[in-house]
Amino acid sequence: MTLRFVDQPPREVIEGLVPVSDPARDVVERIAEIFRTPLTGAYAWSYEDADRKIRRLYELGKQLGWNAALDLDWASSWPRTQAPIAEVFNPFVGYEPFERMSEEEKLAFAWHQHAWTLSQFLHGEQGALLVASQLVSCAPTHEAKLYAASQTFDEARHVEAFGRYLREKVGILYPVNPHLKVLLDKILTDPRWDLKFIGMQIIIEGLALSAFQTLRMVTLDPLLHRIIELVTRDESRHVAFGVTYMESFVRGLPRDEVEARARFAYEACVVMRERLVATEVLERFGWNVEEGRRILLESHVMEEFRRMLFQRIVPNLSRIGLLTDSVRPLYDALGILQFENLVDDGVIDWARLEAPLQRPAA
Ligand SMILES: [Fe+2]
Ligand SMILES: [Fe+2]
Repeated sequence: MTLRFVDQPPREVIEGLVPVSDPARDVVERIAEIFRTPLTGAYAWSYEDADRKIRRLYELGKQLGWNAALDLDWASSWPRTQAPIAEVFNPFVGYEPFERMSEEEKLAFAWHQHAWTLSQFLHGEQGALLVASQLVSCAPTHEAKLYAASQTFDEARHVEAFGRYLREKVGILYPVNPHLKVLLDKILTDPRWDLKFIGMQIIIEGLALSAFQTLRMVTLDPLLHRIIELVTRDESRHVAFGVTYMESFVRGLPRDEVEARARFAYEACVVMRERLVATEVLERFGWNVEEGRRILLESHVMEEFRRMLFQRIVPNLSRIGLLTDSVRPLYDALGILQFENLVDDGVIDWARLEAPLQRPAA
């Protein structure tokens, strides 16, 4: 193995990924990027479980762990000669840059779009893995440390499942979207542990949950459908944990500290809104990126998706106490303040979270 350190994430798209079983993998160069963090850790000297909800979520994490290698049918493959997503969900249908492509190009474009989406999931999952492991050290209470440890393993499984799916079934890996990277950098390198919680458990995972739900509805591949189903179950627990834990913490903060967090959450929402545009794919296919971006953001599919997305995050921010008077007009300007009174993830749907895991027959 050769290891190379870089200052910036790679920008090139990798095609023809090598399957795990291929001996050629041994000579593949590994690329890594250093980030530095002034992590402030905490011992938790009280070993009581002060929070029953978090204890229950931790128990569920242990019970419902699945095995990405054994609980998924990796022998099945969706044909590359067919689009991975139902055409009706393609926001570019009917627009000139898309319609002038040949059928072959349209198919390649669809797979690249799909690869881009899944690649961002993979990079986001790696971010979640790194943040969850930081939370083990810096969360100040016993039950949160245990929970973060179980979440760390959940995230490892997610990285494994998406990584393998991309490698074996799609074969294309897109680099991390710059907007997502900025947010991951911010979360990983901020010394305040609660900002990590807000950024990861509330914003990125809240968004991922909505994105997963959408992909589950539109994917045609039963294997990917199942991966998303299993990952979503874990993510629902993570978001419930984040909302529950942050709610009691933020309540005890002085006003200016709450404001700083409210501002951070708003800025993270704006960044994540940008992350939805696959500009790297548009560039690759020679589109005018600004025009493609405009078509996408104005499309009905995207409007629906954005609505779903923020329907989840905004009520959670409201519950935690981060929709302060100073940021409310900003959310209003984004057109998403209307969701503040919807059901939030602090109201835990235990029946759904506790539903037994269906494993494939041995
Ligand atoms: Fe995850
Ligand atoms: Fe997660």
